[in-house]
Amino acid sequence: MAKRAPRAVGIDIGGTGIKGALVDLSDGSLLTDRIKVATPKGAEPEDVLAAVKKVLSTIGDHDAPLGVAFPAVVRRGKTMSAANVAKTWIGFEAEDFFQQGLGRDIHFANDADVAGVAEVRYGAAKGVDGLALLTTLGTGIGTALIYDGVLVPNSELGHLPRANHKRSAEQWAAYSAKERDELSWSAWAERLQWYYSTLEDLLNPDLFIVGGGVSKHADEFLPLLQIDTPIVPAVHRNNAGIIGAAALSVD
Ligand code: BGC
Repeated sequence: MAKRAPRAVGIDIGGTGIKGALVDLSDGSLLTDRIKVATPKGAEPEDVLAAVKKVLSTIGDHDAPLGVAFPAVVRRGKTMSAANVAKTWIGFEAEDFFQQGLGRDIHFANDADVAGVAEVRYGAAKGVDGLALLTTLGTGIGTALIYDGVLVPNSELGHLPRANHKRSAEQWAAYSAKERDELSWSAWAERLQWYYSTLEDLLNPDLFIVGGGVSKHADEFLPLLQIDTPIVPAVHRNNAGIIGAAALSVD
């Protein structure tokens, strides 16, 4: 009998949607459709768990390893922040909560970090020397710092403050801010120009990678940015979180 490709399920919990799929770990491709449900209003733990269960039951393959990504700082299984989810998650034993609620072991990590892992293993950061900085532009701004292929976890550069302004980088320049303020691509790109040139000044990365759902429209805004650092869309676009969560589940 032919050997089955190594596979795992990845679930990516975001501020707006909860997405999942079964992933072929040999190349990071999706073996099932990408299943998506809306993140429940308020994003309280019990409601998020119920939504994750719904996604998992649609995917099937209950024996595959499972990785879950979450939009918060994750330290030893605990969620330590809550920018776009209920404040209940701050200091919450989230990994245990999901393991008990789902009745199976999981690997639990920050959503942008796992997207970074996906891009290192199967995408734009593969083989990149030095500092690759992945940013996800969605409900919030997530970041993953990858140095010589190694993730430095829990960077939160989406929350960079803006001098003399109330709104942080994320509140001003995330994709949700484009929608909220009904910005054209070029008006939004002006905000991104500030964001990426600030990151460039502070961190001097070798490569920026742009993920999140809007990365499929990268042609509309990346060419408008004037920065010295190369900047490319995430190869796995908005699936990077699913793929990275799955990949980490077997580490
Ligand atoms: C959170 C990050 C997360 C990002 C993208 C931010 O608000 O603080 O942990 O990675 O949103 O979801």
